[in-house]
Amino acid sequence: AGRIRIHHLQQAKDNGEHFAMLTAYEQYTAEIFDQAGIEVLLVGDSASNNVFGNETSLPVTVDELLPLTRAVSRAAKRALVVADLPFGSYEVSPGQAVATGVRFLKEGLAHAVKIEGSAYYADTVKAMVQAGIPVMAHIGFTPQSEHSLGGYRVQGRGDDAQRLVEDALALQDAGAFSVLMEMVPAETAAAVDAAVRVPTVGIGAGKNTTGQVLVWQDMAGLRGGKMAKFVKQYADLRTTLTDAAAAFGGDVRSGQFPGPEHSF
Ligand code: KIV
Ligand code: NA
Repeated sequence: AGRIRIHHLQQAKDNGEHFAMLTAYEQYTAEIFDQAGIEVLLVGDSASNNVFGNETSLPVTVDELLPLTRAVSRAAKRALVVADLPFGSYEVSPGQAVATGVRFLKEGLAHAVKIEGSAYYADTVKAMVQAGIPVMAHIGFTPQSEHSLGGYRVQGRGDDAQRLVEDALALQDAGAFSVLMEMVPAETAAAVDAAVRVPTVGIGAGKNTTGQVLVWQDMAGLRGGKMAKFVKQYADLRTTLTDAAAAFGGDVRSGQFPGPEHSF
């Protein structure tokens, strides 16, 4: 099968089908998720807190994300690779966003980029799409704005639902090929999905989106600590790796490793 392209995601929406998206930040997970049939890989700015050890997504830089993006793009043979533009790399002007987006396609070998923001960013999306950079728009809870939004809070409740519908329509009309919604009530996400022609992607947005995305370390149980309500854990890699490391350490201390079969 050939490369997944944005028109395949549109086909999924048109046919009432779903696609899956996972974050990936390096070679092996990208290769594994690609071979497992995941349609879209996201080099998220969540690398900030899932790779680089920061508390939030805000500190991560373009220079940090570019090599991760390149690694994922080289490893993924089929998946569409989307790269997040990090905080501060696109807000200043459409020109800044185009310049950063170009770097992610040229140096990062990404196929598309994602930016966070409301209808205010319609002109930015338009400029990027004109430059040949496919854009996924991220609305609802937008982690780069967590200090403005007052922390991790569900967005688009009650009367606020209409605002999200308007944002999604403006971003679609500006040329965004997809709209991602994070932490919005399922009803609101369904209303947005019904209003727009383009495929939607949800994380904590209920079942009525075309795509679903999770951070892979949450999905596979690598990260410790409390998981958000929207996470489903499909593996317990933290326990698997802890047990493997402890067994290796034990074997080394007891002289069990290396055995004759590992020796020259
Ligand atoms: O950075 C990220 O991981 C994301 C999603 C989970 C949507 O933006
Ligand atoms: Na992100």
